Amino acid sequence: MSPRTNAVLETFSNFTVLLNRVLAWVDFLVHYISGYLLFLFLGGLRPQYHTRAKRGYTPSVIITGASQGIGLATTRHLASKGYNVFATVKDEVELAKLAEDITDDAHKHLAPRIHFVIMNVLDQSSIDAALAAISSTVSKSPNSPLIALINNAGYCMISPMELTPPKALHDIFDLDFFAYVSTIRAFLPLLKQSSGRVINVVSYGAYINPPMWAPYAAIKAGLEAMTRAWRFELIPFGVGMTSIRPGWTRTAGIGPKISTAWRGYSDQIDKGAVGVNSLGEVVRSDYPVGHREKEVYSKIMHKWYNMTMAAAEGAAQPAEAVALTIHDALSDVFLQPYYTVGYDALLGQMVRDLCPESLYELSMIKTFL
Ligand SMILES: NC(=O)c1ccc[n+]([C@@H]2O[C@H](COP(=O)([O-])OP(=O)(O)OC[C@H]3O[C@@H](n4cnc5c(N)ncnc54)[C@H](OP(=O)(O)O)[C@@H]3O)[C@@H](O)[C@H]2O)c1
Repeated sequence: MSPRTNAVLETFSNFTVLLNRVLAWVDFLVHYISGYLLFLFLGGLRPQYHTRAKRGYTPSVIITGASQGIGLATTRHLASKGYNVFATVKDEVELAKLAEDITDDAHKHLAPRIHFVIMNVLDQSSIDAALAAISSTVSKSPNSPLIALINNAGYCMISPMELTPPKALHDIFDLDFFAYVSTIRAFLPLLKQSSGRVINVVSYGAYINPPMWAPYAAIKAGLEAMTRAWRFELIPFGVGMTSIRPGWTRTAGIGPKISTAWRGYSDQIDKGAVGVNSLGEVVRSDYPVGHREKEVYSKIMHKWYNMTMAAAEGAAQPAEAVALTIHDALSDVFLQPYYTVGYDALLGQMVRDLCPESLYELSMIKTFL
């Protein structure tokens, strides 16, 4: 893509962020009015103000996968808004990288509010160690109770369901679904003490279910359904739970890493490469792939290649836009069941909500087949 096209795409993306903020404020207004009316007259959810940072009160939040992308942008944004952030990363190497990234000149002033903690969300002993360290710190700071866990660590996979090997499926479910459950269970006792919140970063893949996204859509839809049901179970404990539905977002995953994976995919399409993921890996299959399957799936994968490249090179929203929405969820007086961010996500949501299913299906067929 030429630098000029890239600049046009970026300008468009920045404009949509602004539009998104305007829509968010309109939504807030409607939601506040209805929230207070329901609370006053019908026994709806009680308004909560203690999750907002203010002078002399710096509530603590934990974020998983803070080394880059949405996690890093959210760490910086929340610290800039007066929160005490436990930025968790999977190992020592990432910890060193994060310490460098956070303390660059533009963000040096945030360093006192950011605490780096190792937490590999796939390893229960690592979660337990992080819990012990964080509990001990917050117990000594009455002005910084732990008021939120932000589950963000995860990746996406674009691969035909028929050919995706079980191991690739298990791996993505482990990080994008089961690890969310493990961290919530671990930190729930602390969140109950503070009437805190769980914020799960899901995806618009939860409700837009295009071809090649079967595994990813299944996980994100499962996460969102879990969030909506678990949310009710937690109301008696004063704990809130919500989902964030980002659309395409420019991050390392949906950028350099997925580009690397696409190169590997196209080089090895005749040697078992069937898909890509945003960890930068090629999904490989041992199944025999017939001529027709190769023809159909390669054609759809090619369309995805064009879309992800356009997203990575400018069309997608910046990670900071998602950080703003996570802050909205954190500070909302009435926690909503989900928050959508990104023009593609909002548009997709509108099409699914307002159009007949047959029209939605037609749009998918025309786009991909
Ligand atoms: N970008 C998008 O377009 C988009 C759209 C919708 C939803 N989302 C969702 O948003 C979330 C973040 O996406 P992103 O694009 O910001 O991803 P990203 O740039 O690839 O970052 C993912 C983060 O997860 C961390 N992580 C991976 N394995 C981990 C583990 N075992 N323990 C702890 N941390 C681990 C990574 O750490 P390392 O660097 O150490 O691996 C990294 O910090 C994901 O849940 C994704 O599904 C993204």
